[in-house]
Amino acid sequence: EQKYLHLNDGSRMPIVGYGTWMASEEEITFAVNEALKVGYRHIDTAPVYLNEKAIGNVLSKWISSGKVKRSDLFITTKLPPPGADRLDLVELTLRNSLADLQLDYVDLYLIHTPFTVVLQENGEFKRYEDGTIEVDPSTDHVAVWKEMEGLVAKGLAKSIGISNFKEQQIERIRQNCTIQPAVLQIEYHIYLQQPHLIEYCKSANIAVTAYSPLGSKGVSGLNKMAGVERELPDLLDVPVVKEIAQKYNKSEAQVLLRWIVQKGIAVIPKSTNAKRMRENKDIFDFKLDVDEVEQLNSLDANVRVVNFSFFRGVEKHPEFPF
Ligand code: A2P
Repeated sequence: EQKYLHLNDGSRMPIVGYGTWMASEEEITFAVNEALKVGYRHIDTAPVYLNEKAIGNVLSKWISSGKVKRSDLFITTKLPPPGADRLDLVELTLRNSLADLQLDYVDLYLIHTPFTVVLQENGEFKRYEDGTIEVDPSTDHVAVWKEMEGLVAKGLAKSIGISNFKEQQIERIRQNCTIQPAVLQIEYHIYLQQPHLIEYCKSANIAVTAYSPLGSKGVSGLNKMAGVERELPDLLDVPVVKEIAQKYNKSEAQVLLRWIVQKGIAVIPKSTNAKRMRENKDIFDFKLDVDEVEQLNSLDANVRVVNFSFFRGVEKHPEFPF
């Protein structure tokens, strides 16, 4: 059974999707096959995850054998940063993704980040001595968006949206577009709630998808790697979350996902384990009460798990949300 969010362009998106970030080619072949078996129909990927080909092989087997209809799938991929400033590459980039995914269209195409990466002549990222990547903050989002609209007109993408954008950037697109952004995909979980941005999306009728809804590999681990001392427990170890989980006889992950979905926000948890994949979908037979929602709301700490510091300067740039 799928529950859906209704997008502002008339499409619908399953509210629980399967995220594929940080899964290798080998893992992903097994995992996407399992995900489809378990009943996921919404799959989120991107060329920068380097797994579109593997996903495409699995999808093609499922579709050609008649086990799933293309129209029952909701496939999202993204325009990677290096393509965003080259308007002539937008369509080509999506066509490459479509070839890898073995699809004629994607259900949702997102601009992956608001910034562009500077490429060297050999096509590789330009890096500083410390390995950080040089960023070009001057991308003309409105111009890129017009290309995105062209993809809809050509039938290559059913819906279009943005990822990692903040309000002022989205608003600029909205003021200058023909097709409104349908979805904003952002990091979202109890420690990073960005209520203002969520409110804005609601008022603009933009659906929100939460990436890293379980905090990915863990808040403490990643922040230590980045040299930041945090005393916050990982999301799955938060006492309040544990208490609520016990009350409903659900797992901590299910509580974290339910809390997001109850807000009308889609989730794309990633797991390579079939049991946990099933668990992450099975969140529609309980409901958090107002007090529990409030308790979880109060855990907001404005802490980001996904670190963009390898893109030099994006944290300090006024245009970027990092
Ligand atoms: P695994 O793949 O072994 O299940 P996010 O979706 O926030 O990026 O989080 C993904 C991480 O959370 C992965 O390390 C994944 O590990 C783990 N994970 C996913 N689902 C669950 C779950 N239901 N319970 C515990 N850990 C989970």
